[in-house]
Amino acid sequence: MVEEIIAAPAKTVHSAGRGLSGASTPQRLNEIEGDADERWALSIGEFARVLGGGIVPGSIVLVGGDPGIGKSTLLLQVALEMARNMEVLYISGEESERQIKMRALRLLKDEQGEMPEGLLLVTETNLGAILEHISAIKPALVIVDSIQTTYMPELESGAGSVTQVRECASRLRELAKSSGIAIFLIGHVTKEGAIAGPRVLEHIVDTVLYLEGDRFQSYRLLRSVKNRFGATSEVGVFEMREKGMVEVTNPSEAFLAERLVNAPGSAIAVTMEGTRPILVEVQGLSSPTAFGNPRRTPNGIDFNRLLLVSAVLARRLGLRLGDQDVFVNVVGGIQVEEPAADLAVAAAIASSLRDVPIRADTVLIGEVGLSGELRMVGQMPARLNEAAKLGFKTAIVPKRLRKTEPWPKGIEVVEARSVREALDRAMVKSE
Ligand SMILES: Nc1ncnc2c1ncn2[C@@H]1O[C@H](COP(=O)(O)OP(=O)(O)OP(=O)(O)O)[C@@H](O)[C@H]1O
Ligand SMILES: [Mg+2]
Repeated sequence: MVEEIIAAPAKTVHSAGRGLSGASTPQRLNEIEGDADERWALSIGEFARVLGGGIVPGSIVLVGGDPGIGKSTLLLQVALEMARNMEVLYISGEESERQIKMRALRLLKDEQGEMPEGLLLVTETNLGAILEHISAIKPALVIVDSIQTTYMPELESGAGSVTQVRECASRLRELAKSSGIAIFLIGHVTKEGAIAGPRVLEHIVDTVLYLEGDRFQSYRLLRSVKNRFGATSEVGVFEMREKGMVEVTNPSEAFLAERLVNAPGSAIAVTMEGTRPILVEVQGLSSPTAFGNPRRTPNGIDFNRLLLVSAVLARRLGLRLGDQDVFVNVVGGIQVEEPAADLAVAAAIASSLRDVPIRADTVLIGEVGLSGELRMVGQMPARLNEAAKLGFKTAIVPKRLRKTEPWPKGIEVVEARSVREALDRAMVKSE
């Protein structure tokens, strides 16, 4: 329970808040200026794609993520790039100017680029002072690191409280909408994984991006969960390196780079991240339970899906998993939420238990049903094309009921009705 003090009367909190631009007058839509794709291009292509094609002037974007995941790094990179063409103000409530300078030097190290002139830094947490700096400098882009450290002294609750976060964010939104300044807010994430602060924060802003990834792995996914100017569920893939967040333009290749070909317990799934197919290696390991109940340990897939797939393997295929601990790991630290990876999970477990490898040139796609049947998943052509592009020869997929279009060329598509049939086709036959 957090005490929320409602002290300031609404008038002082929203003093500028009559309409987005002060006095409001209805205007005719056809007389309002602006065209459909007014956006600032970005050379960080993955970031631009997640935003829907670039930064929209006057938009307010919230970037959330776990501590240390790279939020400040990514946005400093954006600031450094945009500052070549426009004035950018980077407001930090968490680091000193020297520390930010140190990071900027590291990020620019091997580009031999000088510091762009357009980037201004200030360490400030008082929103009133921040607004004054903005109106004095009139930057085109503002980055606030972070919204939780920003506070309005006239509100009695402490920085980071629900009231503070909400009021500061709505003030900044009014500023963005009335002035055309694009604003990025960095937001902390609670232990449960939601952006700290009120849920309304997500309603206040135009776009909500999450930066996620395993902290012990170098891959980071930038996911858009809300976007007023582009498709949601778009994903950008980055790798954290010394020179900052480096785009991974071909994630499938990166995720498969360390694969041991012909090792038992390894299967390739094709998962869709937004509109983009990504190939990932799913590893399974079964080992005899030492004592007590057999354990099921997933990493990168949902626990309940693992239970379901294990149960189907035990009951429908007669695999002896009752006295086995089962571990499943998705390589690269990415989280696969789609049921389309079920078949690969099943194959990885079965392959480990039988100690027979899955064919190295085969991908497995399909949802596993409770009677051991394979169910069709969406966006098949995109998945198959990606697998073919990476040199896979065979795809094992659920049987189609309606044959509307031919399968894509370049890969042999094997249709299987059941998990049993799919595994028979996928396993390397011993001669
Ligand atoms: N020299 C370096 N080489 C490689 N990676 C580095 C280096 N210095 C920092 N990092 C990476 O940068 C990460 C910190 O990034 P950053 O400060 O942008 O995170 P953040 O999301 O802003 O965190 P916070 O929420 O604490 O502000 C570290 O976890 C580390 O992985
Ligand atoms: Mg930070």
